Amino acid sequence: MQLKNKDLLGIAGLSADEINLILDTAATMKLVLSSRTKKTAHLQGQSVVTVFYENSTRTRLSFEMACKFMGAASANIAPSGSSVKKGENLIDTARTIDAMATDILVMRHPNSGAPHRIAPLIKASVINAGDGMNEHPTQALLDAFTMREKLGSLEGLEVAIIGDIAHSRVARSNIYLLTTMGAKVRLAGPRTLMPVEIARLGATVCPTVIEAASDADVVMALRLQLERQQKALFPSIPEYARFFAVDRKALAVAKPGALIMHPGPANHGIEIPTEVYDSPQSVINEQVQNGVAIRMAIMYLLSARRNPVYEHSN
Ligand code: NCD
Repeated sequence: MQLKNKDLLGIAGLSADEINLILDTAATMKLVLSSRTKKTAHLQGQSVVTVFYENSTRTRLSFEMACKFMGAASANIAPSGSSVKKGENLIDTARTIDAMATDILVMRHPNSGAPHRIAPLIKASVINAGDGMNEHPTQALLDAFTMREKLGSLEGLEVAIIGDIAHSRVARSNIYLLTTMGAKVRLAGPRTLMPVEIARLGATVCPTVIEAASDADVVMALRLQLERQQKALFPSIPEYARFFAVDRKALAVAKPGALIMHPGPANHGIEIPTEVYDSPQSVINEQVQNGVAIRMAIMYLLSARRNPVYEHSN
């Protein structure tokens, strides 16, 4: 089995079989990461360019480490030091990267749909590393990998996602993925940060954090994305923290041993208190670790699709 498309632009459109293929492949990659040499030749002879038009620590570093562990030739472009600063448009930039025999282009962009726009115009496989408020597919896959590893199966899980849903590509990709895999998603957050159309994606909107977190297997806090808010959408930060933090009270109503997740970076004391971030139930650092395995798996599967010599045996 292999991935259907040349690109990974979102979770929307991925089948449950494709999601399982990525998660199973990541489990193998995780074994590589735990070995002493941390090396495979799966991307030998392949070239990967990462271009991040928005800040990133975890996503960018994990793609770069994944490239190194798999033997790819990789390069990074920072828009601030490139011709983007001279006014070059996205399509010309992408075509320029493509012309240098690039096999995989990893892109983060502030505009929703930016990777979808360029993917059909270039030969390289495009991986969406976050597009505006739309999707962040590799984050949802690493979240799912972490849940599956800790809890056994995604089917039937009850997952509460709390906070700034409106601006969160992480929430959107998680809703697509979890509902495709048979999990139930409950959301809570200020009404001004809860898009009206979100319930159409199959999630249930709850009036309070306590209601969303009750009996949940997983409680995921989201970063309050102040950089995407032009006007005040809630009264004050202390009030937000009082009503919408994933705090001890939320933990107390979730299932015993429920997982606490956060995609990072976190605002300690706003959407999550440090005591919960650091609690034994928190798997936030494991999410980061699994992010490398997921990105290795995705790049391997896309390259296997492009180069049948690497055909996956599943
Ligand atoms: C997320 C993102 O950039 O969408 N971070 C990440 O990739 N781990 C979430 C966020 O910035 O809040």
